[in-house]
Amino acid sequence: MRAAAGATTTADAWNFVEGGSGGEHTMRENGLAFDRVRLLPRVAVDVAGRTARTRLLGLPVPVPLAVAPMAYQTWLHPDGEVATAAAAAAAGVPFVVSMMASRTVEDIAATGAATVMQLYWLRDRGLFRELIGRAEAAGCAALMLTVDVPLLGRRLRDMRGGLVRPATVVAANLGGAGGGAGAGRAGRSEVALHTKVLFDPSLSWADVAWVRSVTRLPLVLKGILDPDDAALAVDAGADAVVVSNHGGRQLDGAVATATALPAVVDAIAGRCEVLVDSGIRGGVDVLKALALGAAGVLVGRPLLWGLAAGGAPGVTRVFDLISEELHEAMALAGCPDVDSARRLRTSVAGGGC
Ligand SMILES: Cc1cc2nc3c(=O)[nH]c(=O)nc-3n(C[C@H](O)[C@H](O)[C@H](O)COP(=O)(O)O)c2cc1C
Repeated sequence: MRAAAGATTTADAWNFVEGGSGGEHTMRENGLAFDRVRLLPRVAVDVAGRTARTRLLGLPVPVPLAVAPMAYQTWLHPDGEVATAAAAAAAGVPFVVSMMASRTVEDIAATGAATVMQLYWLRDRGLFRELIGRAEAAGCAALMLTVDVPLLGRRLRDMRGGLVRPATVVAANLGGAGGGAGAGRAGRSEVALHTKVLFDPSLSWADVAWVRSVTRLPLVLKGILDPDDAALAVDAGADAVVVSNHGGRQLDGAVATATALPAVVDAIAGRCEVLVDSGIRGGVDVLKALALGAAGVLVGRPLLWGLAAGGAPGVTRVFDLISEELHEAMALAGCPDVDSARRLRTSVAGGGC
């Protein structure tokens, strides 16, 4: 699917999707860290009637997946987020609407997908609160505050190429600020400049508590890696955290999520839900995430590959592949359900049990 997407996508859009920050060490390490996890399969367990059904972010799901928030999907397909969300609705998988989505939250919710609204901490608090109100009115099931972007990571592919969004690729929920403005040139990314104007790098735990206080929706914090931050997230009233390094797009050199996950799960000690993203590329990775203690995963780039390669049917194909792989892997690991998957033992390749 990745190869098919690469063949149909402009160089700018491909760099935007595929790129990480700095030397892309963290981006590469995300995949390697999942690869290094080894599962200890159980045997002679009846898996004839196995199911991957569970609840995620308060929602019933057929597989423990949700769509990661990803900006500007009309860059990859004219229908953008609406196509991805339609496929998510058909798969019964929740769709997290990026604050930088290129379609409105109302249009996305109209697909029938269960939605969660992702937020960045904006300088314009009026606009921030307005978006919470719109998310509530559109029927979003939760809010997801991304806490790892005081500013955009140094994405060298975008800077070198002088990345500029096409005029049609707008932040539809932020008044439609379009591409092309403040045009990029070699050494500057227009997306990074746009973000710098909008995002407030002063976010603190007191602000997180304030966000908690202005909505009755469940609050998810995305971008947690340190177990102390996980504990602070619980103290601030988070209902869930996402162990994430933003797909290696923020701090280059940050720990891989498969490495960070177990300590976060320990620190949370069942007090809220723990999800993980960054490097999930198939059903076996999902099973590994469960075995490391996650309740479920956010799927990122692979869904954008499906979108670019084939619109909504392409996204459906990616859901189907991950789901088939997960069901097969659960059978082979002796897991009749998600709870048993979460009890699987793991080791790290080259290390002990
Ligand atoms: C093209 C692209 C756009 C993204 N936009 C957002 C965003 O708007 N908000 C956010 O919280 N995370 C964003 N992310 C990060 C994803 O939510 C997720 O953490 C990341 O893609 C996981 O890594 P993976 O895709 O390599 O598995 C974006 C990622 C990509 C690839």
